[in-house]
Parts: sequence; C-alpha cells; structure tokens
Amino acid sequence: MAKLTIEGGESFDVAESKRLVRALVEDAGVDQLHACGGKGRCTTCKVEMVEGEPDKMTKAEATVLSERGLEGIRLSCQMLCDRDMTVRVVSRLEGSGRSDAGGAVADEIEPAPVEWVDRG
Ligand code: FES
Repeated sequence: MAKLTIEGGESFDVAESKRLVRALVEDAGVDQLHACGGKGRCTTCKVEMVEGEPDKMTKAEATVLSERGLEGIRLSCQMLCDRDMTVRVVSRLEGSGRSDAGGAVADEIEPAPVEWVDRG
C-alpha cells in the first residue's frame, strides 16, 4: 500500500502501483479532471507534487509537458502510486466549465508501450 495525501486534507491508503489519477478519483473522491481519458495528451490531469515526487516520468508525459512549456506540475495519469506522496489538487471539474471530468481511465498507463525517462 502507498499513502496518498491531499494537501490540506486527508490521507488515503492506495493499492501500490495504481495510477495516481484513478487513486485521486476512486480513493480520495477528488473531482480530478482527466479529459483525454488518461492517455497523456490533454494535461487536465495535472497535479502539483508537494512530497514524494518520482524521479522518473513516462516519455509521453515528458513530451507533452515540454511541448506545452509546462513546469512544476506532473500528469496524474502518467504516474503510479509506488510510494507515499502528497499532492496539491489544481485541476478539478468544479469551476472548470466542463460537463464532465473526462473519459474512463484504463488500469494500465497509456499510451503503451510505456517508456520511462528521467525527470528533467
Ligand atoms: S488525462 Fe489527459 S493527459 Fe492525463
């Protein structure tokens, strides 16, 4: 088990290696956006890492963050709960103007095959 803590809120026990976006939605009950359904394309699943940020990221995450010039965030659909972590929720359905949080997110990280690279 890994412990997921929402900054300023509660902590939750999460199955180790569960996708962070799924843990946020299913375990923590956060209305986390995930517009592309966890495929590493939209960046609406972004979170800010307070503690426990992994040193590795998927190549898909590194690519989309670089292309969009985004820094200081991580994509929760591209991360696994493989350690205790504290996150700041910054992209919620509430206040977004969207009609829903996003499509269904698969159990395994997409897109496959997953290639891990060092965080920049
Ligand atoms: S849900 Fe679209 S990039 Fe993560």
